[in-house]
Amino acid sequence: MPTPFPWMSAELAALESAGLRRARRVVRPLAGGACKIDGRRLWNFAGNDYLGLAGDPQVVAAAQTALSESGVGARASALVAGRTEWHARLEQALARFEGQEAAVLFPTGYAANVGTIAALVDENDVVVCDRLNHASLIDGCRLSGAKLRVFRHSELDTLERVLHKAAEFRRRLIVTDAVFSMDGDVAPLRELCDLAERFDADVLVDEAHGTGVFGEHGRGVCEHLGVEDRIAVRIGTLSKSIGTLGGFVAGSQSLVDWLWNKARPQVFSTALPPAICAAAVAAIEIIRSEPERRTTLWQNCEFVRRELAQLKIDVSPSSVGPIIPILLGNPDAAVAAQQKLEEHGCLVAAIRPPTVPHGTSRLRISLSAAHDESALKTLVAALQEAVSVP
Ligand SMILES: Cc1ncc(COP(=O)(O)O)c(C=O)c1O
Repeated sequence: MPTPFPWMSAELAALESAGLRRARRVVRPLAGGACKIDGRRLWNFAGNDYLGLAGDPQVVAAAQTALSESGVGARASALVAGRTEWHARLEQALARFEGQEAAVLFPTGYAANVGTIAALVDENDVVVCDRLNHASLIDGCRLSGAKLRVFRHSELDTLERVLHKAAEFRRRLIVTDAVFSMDGDVAPLRELCDLAERFDADVLVDEAHGTGVFGEHGRGVCEHLGVEDRIAVRIGTLSKSIGTLGGFVAGSQSLVDWLWNKARPQVFSTALPPAICAAAVAAIEIIRSEPERRTTLWQNCEFVRRELAQLKIDVSPSSVGPIIPILLGNPDAAVAAQQKLEEHGCLVAAIRPPTVPHGTSRLRISLSAAHDESALKTLVAALQEAVSVP
């Protein structure tokens, strides 16, 4: 039998020699923001569990209760027969948490972004994207069939020009991350809203890395910047600070009803496992009732940023909060630094193209409230060894 896809091995070899081939490993999560890889215990600075909720005993117990009651899988899509009491409770909890009328769930944050954008615009419309938007937002824009216009990262002048030229389209949708996942900076949402209002556009914000981290109540960057009422669509993920899995949109009843009917990943995918919904409800309650977790997270961010500044290790100047990128340029340098960090007890992601633009490979440190002082000090010492200061 001929080898299927004979071109693949050559392409994989090309990726390898460019330093871009991805390897996968088995990671065993441990308490306290640690993990075990290849038998070694490492502090985990490569996840998105910002509040330490993924392994929280209350969250785990909530999942176990639902697991015993409802089994593992949801058995059908939400619209057919998969929407259990746990799903309904999670929708309510999210709507309440976000201060909105209603919420709709998606299998993942990726699916929420793709499905929501494709349900809101089509070939008669234009979508305007920040160049560094997450792949799921870009994919949603492409799938929608709307005309895609891209503006340079956070450059409002370019955005204004693009919107100026977009007047002939039926609808204009500005699409942005709230926190850019590989850069750790925050979108200029107030200014984006000003422009949107001037040019009769709507703004869609992905709060994947904002929820639980930013805002007095943890509702994200929209809350932090006081623009919640000006944003047409807010999308969130349950997989980062909420510690579970899934995506959601919280908004007006009519927006949610529309997405129930039209967002294809929600209509045509099996509903989330009930135990995941129960766990997410427990996690949201903790986010609401224990703001001190957020305080600890921000204290951790301040500590690490201060220590790195003292060591003269440059982090991206626009980054704020728990995502701390250290730009190293070429992919090999990023992978070598990652390996060195592991030798010193820390797991930090080396991020390479196509996740980031060529020439901007980096270490992406991500902090959690679960990290204690010893974890943070180990990280700083490891970075001192792994990142040479010219
Ligand atoms: C900004 C952003 N949006 C969306 C997603 C997708 O979320 P999920 O992992 O829940 O599919 C991610 C995940 O990496 C992300 O970083």
